[in-house]
Amino acid sequence: MSSETSSSSRSSETLSGREGHEAQPISETAASRRHLSSRRSFLVGAGAGALGAGLLANVPLASAHQRLTEGDEAILRFLSAAEILETDFWQQYNELGGVQDSEVPGGSGNSAYTAALAVLDSDMAQYIHDNTEDEFTHFTFINAYLEARGGRAVSLERFRKLPSSTATGAQQIKRLTNLMELTVHTSWWTRYRSRTKNPDFGDTFPPAVPGLLKGKFPAIPRSDADLTPADHLQAIANTAGFHFATIEQGGTSLYPSLAQRVSDREVLRVLLSIGPTETMHFQTWMDKAGNAPPVTDPTNGLVFPDLNSPPFGGEDFQTNLIMPEPTIFLDRKFPVCSIIRPTETEGAAMGAVKFLTDDGLFRGQSPAFFAFMTDLAREADAARPERSHQ
Ligand SMILES: [Fe+2]
Ligand SMILES: [Fe+2]
Repeated sequence: MSSETSSSSRSSETLSGREGHEAQPISETAASRRHLSSRRSFLVGAGAGALGAGLLANVPLASAHQRLTEGDEAILRFLSAAEILETDFWQQYNELGGVQDSEVPGGSGNSAYTAALAVLDSDMAQYIHDNTEDEFTHFTFINAYLEARGGRAVSLERFRKLPSSTATGAQQIKRLTNLMELTVHTSWWTRYRSRTKNPDFGDTFPPAVPGLLKGKFPAIPRSDADLTPADHLQAIANTAGFHFATIEQGGTSLYPSLAQRVSDREVLRVLLSIGPTETMHFQTWMDKAGNAPPVTDPTNGLVFPDLNSPPFGGEDFQTNLIMPEPTIFLDRKFPVCSIIRPTETEGAAMGAVKFLTDDGLFRGQSPAFFAFMTDLAREADAARPERSHQ
């Protein structure tokens, strides 16, 4: 994307709110923001009804008088966009297979899909609901924080063009992400079980479910026609179960990767406080994915293998090995360590966009969408710590 388009989008971007809570741009001008005295606490929230702004209202921010560095703003803007995209697809999962309530409104549930998900764990609906709410708060907070520090919030509303599932329970609105043609990469399964390899050393890992790489598979019922036969619907629920962990392991790496290049201590605190919640999601979902029953989808041949039996099984596949195995870190001369992997910071944002794209999450999105996301990622990856701004 050209910088011209990028700057023209600045003025139109506002704090996005949940349906029914349309947030407004915070009216402080950029100029006045830059000249706030150090003694004045910057209050957000007058007229801004979104949750994030509400959280920040009347709370003096330690660094509020300081405008974000360009690099910190770029990192936060990229994370905001990533969180908006997470929110968009988690919302789709919640409408059909979660809990629809005042915390996460929208949709009315699909009982057959919800039951198929419950085969993985009877609490799946609650977990889907809570993960969805978490993502909503992530982007809402980051956008509110961006504006409080003189930055620009991110909105992706203009890219909301993809169709909804027509299955019973889904809202009929336009979406940012596509859960109906996924190619799910499940190599995180063996990556976190390896004791000798680390992606930051260039190592690669076999997938847990090879079949998910060999086509485009729905993770939600595309219509009520997908609710039968039972093994087809179970394969859809299993696909969702693995996709949940696939996404959240990405966030688990993204935050520590980008945190290494922030300048401001409070921005670092934001990243260090949100990132581990992605890891809490990942850990939960890895456990649930291990409960996905072996099944072959009679409509397309997609196989979910028994991961505890040959040719699977053992240290690399056993389903209850959900704690990260210690592995090599930084340099082979050090003892192995139980760590998040990867955490390489170079190119981390672009890597995240590529990963999500390769998984098919954006199938059908416009060239303008990819250009915008690529632009945000490039700017985030160009960020370098500016110690003088601390
Ligand atoms: Fe998130
Ligand atoms: Fe997440």
